[in-house]
Amino acid sequence: MRMKKPLIFAHRGVSSQCPENTLAAFRRAIEVGAEGIELDVHRSKDGQLVVCHDETVDRTTDGKGVIQEMTVQDLSRLDAGGWFGPAYKEERIPLLEEVLELLEPTSLHLNIELKTDYYFYPGIEEDTYALILAHGMEDRVILSSFNHHTVVRFQRIAPKVRTGILYSCHLYEPHKYAISLGVGALHPPMHLAPPEIITIAHQAGLSVHGWFSRERFDETQARGYLDSGVDILITNYPQEYLALRDEK
Ligand code: G3P
Ligand code: MG
Repeated sequence: MRMKKPLIFAHRGVSSQCPENTLAAFRRAIEVGAEGIELDVHRSKDGQLVVCHDETVDRTTDGKGVIQEMTVQDLSRLDAGGWFGPAYKEERIPLLEEVLELLEPTSLHLNIELKTDYYFYPGIEEDTYALILAHGMEDRVILSSFNHHTVVRFQRIAPKVRTGILYSCHLYEPHKYAISLGVGALHPPMHLAPPEIITIAHQAGLSVHGWFSRERFDETQARGYLDSGVDILITNYPQEYLALRDEK
C-alpha cells in the first residue's frame, strides 16, 4: 500500500533561514510553498496575544524581560531579528493578529501553540478564538498546547476548530488518552512517533502531527519521516522536506 505523504508546516516559520516567530519567517514559509505554519503565543501585560517562543524576550530579542510584564509598546521597541543576522534587525515580535492577516488571503494552515506551560494567561482561549473567528480561519487552524487544560478549555468554546495535544514524554497508549479528552490529534516529537504509534492513532480516528526537538536535517532520516504515515511534519526545514517529498 502506498502511504499518503505528510503536509509540511514551517516550525516557528522557516526558522532555519530566518529568525524564528517573525513575519520574515512566516513570509518565507509562504514563499517556499509550505502548507502551514506553526507558531507560539503568549500574552502581554496589556492583554494582547503575541508571537514568541519563550516566556521572556531575552533569547530572541535585544531586550530583557518577561512578556506578561511588558506592554505591546514595550515589545514593539525590541529588535527580534538582529540576533539571527543584520538583514533582520527591523523584525519585531509580531501580534497573532498580524500573522492571521498575513495568512488570511493564502491557503496556508496555522498551528497555534498556546504557551500556557508556566503562565496560564486566564482567558487566552477565548481571546484566541475571537481572533480566529474575526479572520475566518476556523477551518485552517489547529490549536495545540503542552497544557492540556488549555486544549480542553479551547475545545469547549470552539468545538469546530481542530485541536491536538503536545507532549514530549513517553505517554502510554497516547491514542486512548487523546480520545478521553476528545481531541483530534496527537502532537508528539518524531522520535516518539514510530509507525506503529501512527497506525494505532489512525485506527482510532486521530491524526498525527509530528515535530522535532533539537532538529538537524538529515536526508536519509527525513525520507523515513516522509514515509512514516504521519499526517503533518512540523519542521525548521520545510524547503528541504518539500523538495524531497515532491521530487519526481
Ligand atoms: O508545536 C510543536 C513544537 O513547537 C513544540 O515545541 O518548544 O518548539 O514550541 P516548541
Ligand atoms: Mg511551538
